Amino acid sequence: MELYEGLLTRRSIRKYNPEQTLTKEQILELIRAASYAPSAHNKQPWHFLILQDKEVLRTMRLIQPWTSFAKDACCIVVVCVDESETFHREKEGWNYAQIDGALAAQNLLLACHAKGLGACFCGAAPMPLVIDNLRKKFNIPGNILPVAIVTIGYPEEKPKTPEDRLNLDKVHWESF
Ligand SMILES: Cc1cc2nc3c(=O)[nH]c(=O)nc-3n(C[C@H](O)[C@H](O)[C@H](O)COP(=O)(O)O)c2cc1C
Repeated sequence: MELYEGLLTRRSIRKYNPEQTLTKEQILELIRAASYAPSAHNKQPWHFLILQDKEVLRTMRLIQPWTSFAKDACCIVVVCVDESETFHREKEGWNYAQIDGALAAQNLLLACHAKGLGACFCGAAPMPLVIDNLRKKFNIPGNILPVAIVTIGYPEEKPKTPEDRLNLDKVHWESF
């Protein structure tokens, strides 16, 4: 698939064929693409938590309520970022964790689309309760921030192409 076409045709997919599975190699191919995302100072601070256990997929909705469709996914990839590794200025109280993580997640979504898989970005950070629950359930250390819960499976829906999303009211030339 041509990249520009892929960018315009990717959609969040929330219905998956429950009979299908992904091999470890297939999952690692997707993670490879995620790892080519840009990151501040090229720190590549991400970690990927792969979840395939059916019970875990079924009960993810108890951790993040808008993930009920994960029950039929082949896997979930929780995209995390190490906040001590990501480019940061401690004294000024900021870091690029959520941005780096979101970019890796977007690469992951696009890789899924390129491979004929369906995926959906489900939020984690900055929701404190979701972060907390994920850390507790999956032994994620305190310096590791879960940024996205990405559900992945073989698509069983074909959402229609949205209207042209280019909105000229939101394009500002030279001055806002
Ligand atoms: C930060 C963020 C959090 C999201 N959280 C959820 C979620 O919890 N559950 C869900 O079904 N979709 C979630 N989405 C997906 C959006 O609903 C989806 O991207 C949006 O409706 C546009 O549709 P499209 O991805 O098909 O273009 C999230 C997307 C982003 C960027």
